[in-house]
Amino acid sequence: MFKWTLQMQIDNGQLDEDHRKLISIANRVLELNRPNRDVEEIKLVIRELYDYVKYHFSREENLMRELNYPEIADHHKKHQAIVADMNHYLTSSHHMNDILSNFRGLVDKWVINHIMEEDEKIRRFMESKPSASK
Ligand SMILES: [Fe+2]
Repeated sequence: MFKWTLQMQIDNGQLDEDHRKLISIANRVLELNRPNRDVEEIKLVIRELYDYVKYHFSREENLMRELNYPEIADHHKKHQAIVADMNHYLTSSHHMNDILSNFRGLVDKWVINHIMEEDEKIRRFMESKPSASK
């Protein structure tokens, strides 16, 4: 199972809540991927993950705008790459088996690594500007 850890804490607020929610949706996919799995049900939850990722990225980018975060363009590109990657995997439904066998690695890359490497930079930026961290 995927786990949200303190190392992933960014704002002690909305972003962390979103990240926790992404991890819990991804865990539902893992739970559903069992013997006699229902592929249609799994597809629905993967779709939910995809939709929530997009929703979350726009919220995160709004926050970056409010903060005048200097690396927003670069961060936006990284979000776009993740969405394109997800789109690629999720729209080729005949690759469901491949998706599921790689799912852990994909979520590590799409969610966990992104939080710990890219979103972590937002945390450091907020920390350097205490007045803007609210
Ligand atoms: Fe991000």
